[in-house]
Amino acid sequence: MVKAKESRLRTKGRIVGGLEPLISISNMSSHELAQSYDDSYRQSNYFKYRLWLYRPFVRALVRRVGLKPGDSLLDAGCGQGFFTSLFADYGISAIGIDVSAAGVAAAREAYLSPRVTFEVGDVLELEWRNEFDCVFSRSCS
Ligand SMILES: C[S@@+](CC[C@H](N)C(=O)[O-])C[C@H]1O[C@@H](n2cnc3c(N)ncnc32)[C@H](O)[C@@H]1O
Repeated sequence: MVKAKESRLRTKGRIVGGLEPLISISNMSSHELAQSYDDSYRQSNYFKYRLWLYRPFVRALVRRVGLKPGDSLLDAGCGQGFFTSLFADYGISAIGIDVSAAGVAAAREAYLSPRVTFEVGDVLELEWRNEFDCVFSRSCS
């Protein structure tokens, strides 16, 4: 069963892409959630993402939000870091956070740009406040 809760993620006053972010909170603990993804993420590019498909998507977001090189971005629930790294390609300093240690390990191995970092953590328990120019979250569940 999934309980949905709406919440605006404020990022220096901007809301990403003009959309209302929705945070879905499952009743799994973050430990259980991490375990459920860890096995999958041992397979490289588990979701079989293709650059030709998603680079234009990220480019459109960057333009829509008005992000510039040097801006900072948090990717909440970054998985294996595919989208985090696409933002870094635009000169954005991106940090990806995920509860899955295997996801973060895969991201660190796959994406070596100095503009991108990955940390294991629960995005619902972060202590940052207004630290980022933008918060991006895709299917964080
Ligand atoms: C469907 S995957 C999507 C991953 C990535 N955003 C993407 O689009 O490829 C969902 C991810 O959200 C992560 N996640 C879910 N709840 C989280 C939380 N509270 N804190 C950090 N990561 C979380 C999971 O571990 C998983 O990697």
